[in-house]
Amino acid sequence: MTDPVSRRRFLSRVTLALSGAIGVVVSAPIFAYLLSPLIKPTRQSWQRIGSIDKFKIGKTVQVALEDPSSLAWAGQTARTAAWLRRDSEASFTVFAVNCTHLGCPVNWLEDARLFLCPCHGGVYNADGSVAAGPPPHPLLRYEVRVQNGEVEILGRGLQFS
Ligand code: FES
Repeated sequence: MTDPVSRRRFLSRVTLALSGAIGVVVSAPIFAYLLSPLIKPTRQSWQRIGSIDKFKIGKTVQVALEDPSSLAWAGQTARTAAWLRRDSEASFTVFAVNCTHLGCPVNWLEDARLFLCPCHGGVYNADGSVAAGPPPHPLLRYEVRVQNGEVEILGRGLQFS
């Protein structure tokens, strides 16, 4: 026959251990969030996108870049995209690919000269300003420069249009 006191003690220890484990699992993201300003890497770098000759004046194309706000272990998820437009001989505009509503990637419609978000129908004008739908802000922009014939995007410092 089993001793009820030792069973009770055993079950209470199991309950305490499980409660502690659940508490750690539940509170870890909260602590990570609270500590993130202290541990988040603040990387900022110019990323070479391609030769200036690759881009036609007036055209908007999607380009790939590394998301600098990602954590070191982000791996493939750090790869992101942006919409790059060559405005003139030496002037470019780069928009973040993510909608300012809930972050879905927006599409560029060349004929309509609009950015369209497929998630909730957000529409942006060619200059990134909101044309319609739920987006609260214009598309964010990256800084861009031409260096030694190469287009480079500053992988940080997104700004409102
Ligand atoms: S995520 Fe783009 S409109 Fe909602």
